[in-house]
Amino acid sequence: MRKIYIFDTTLRDGEQSPGVNLNMQEKVEIALQLEKLGIDRIEAGFPAASPGDLAGVRAVAEAVRNSSVIGLARSREKDIDAVHEALKNAQDPAIHVFLATSPIHREHKLRMSKEQVLETAEAAIRYAKKYFSKIEFSPEDAGRTELDFLCEVTEMAIRAGATVVNIPDTVGYMTPSEFGNIFKTLREKVPGIEKIQLSAHCHDDLGMATANALAAILNGADQVEGTINGIGERAGNTSLEEVAMALETRQEFYQAKTTLRLSEIARTSRLVSKLTGMVVPGNKAIVGANAFAHESGIHQDGMLKEKTTYEIMSPETIGLKESKLVLGKHSGRHAFREKLIDLGYELNEEQLNSAFAKFKDLADKKKQVLDEDIRTLVEEKMIGTPEIFALESLRLVYGDNPQPGAVVRIKTAEGAWSRKRRTATGPWMRFIKRSTK
Ligand code: KIV
Ligand code: ZN
Repeated sequence: MRKIYIFDTTLRDGEQSPGVNLNMQEKVEIALQLEKLGIDRIEAGFPAASPGDLAGVRAVAEAVRNSSVIGLARSREKDIDAVHEALKNAQDPAIHVFLATSPIHREHKLRMSKEQVLETAEAAIRYAKKYFSKIEFSPEDAGRTELDFLCEVTEMAIRAGATVVNIPDTVGYMTPSEFGNIFKTLREKVPGIEKIQLSAHCHDDLGMATANALAAILNGADQVEGTINGIGERAGNTSLEEVAMALETRQEFYQAKTTLRLSEIARTSRLVSKLTGMVVPGNKAIVGANAFAHESGIHQDGMLKEKTTYEIMSPETIGLKESKLVLGKHSGRHAFREKLIDLGYELNEEQLNSAFAKFKDLADKKKQVLDEDIRTLVEEKMIGTPEIFALESLRLVYGDNPQPGAVVRIKTAEGAWSRKRRTATGPWMRFIKRSTK
């Protein structure tokens, strides 16, 4: 099995998600969790971008001991100096230098010829060599770069001293077969390619980031770059948890594996979501709330008989406790009966039939039937729990003058129904009143 190195850029490309801004403590907290997950390489930020970014990269470099820590730099001496400054105390520092190579970027953004691009990138890699033994070079927008020129750039980067050449599909334009072909061609045509690692960096604009990264692996990539939960610029980056679980689940097919501690995936995903404020959609592969939840009666029946009928991975692998059978209008009797047993009810066949009919009525009106709904339905309607109280009326008074309060009228069944009336005001309401004086 070939090892695939995992390069996490949650703290750099991920932090470029619109609206995300992590402070230094948050960056360190995420980096330490990435280290626990077993990430090989952590791109901690872009030190030349701002003093705050430099401080964040420095703090991560000082905290992390077991993963390599990387800083991003444009092909400029001042950027490379900033990365050097930020990574002085790193246990295993590395630099990531980039320069765009596609015709669109050369013409409109850089206003450089091919020769100028080659010279500028080479000078930057050689300058970085003064400080770093591990240098990754990225030809930005490689996906839209002429393949011959990309081979030339890669050859130059190897000669200048890069140890990793990363191929970014910067704008998420590639299809898996096109992206795979880039790796195949580089492996076949570039002299010295065996001396370095090839890496894939994909964006998800057309929803193909994970598929493209996997196609790169099949065609000779040694490293995949991405983020937790797939966050990042625009539609985001490759989701690292998706790549890790695809390699785990389809090991025979890919003949490659990561050394991630997969049971840390769910925890890492939750932490990144909490600190970035980017909510993970319920249907997100691997880490969405519904990734291991089943609603249809047919699926629930299958799951109860044999989990592999409808699950290709187990939730325990990524650190979750168990799959969920969600009760809703598509659920069947089998799942309903199991839920009743779970909740501690033993109903005879007739009671079960009647409870199931009531449950279906309720499920038609409510999206999801919760445990409390089932308890109420069974206890009130089926077991015939005697009615002890009934709410007759409720009056609420809001405001600070008169004091807020409530009047509740409850009917109690003491032989015949009798009525009781009490009024009270809550202590927290008094507190609010005092504290606003
Ligand atoms: O998407 C991209 O091209 C990048 C580079 C900096 C590698 O993030
Ligand atoms: Zn990117």
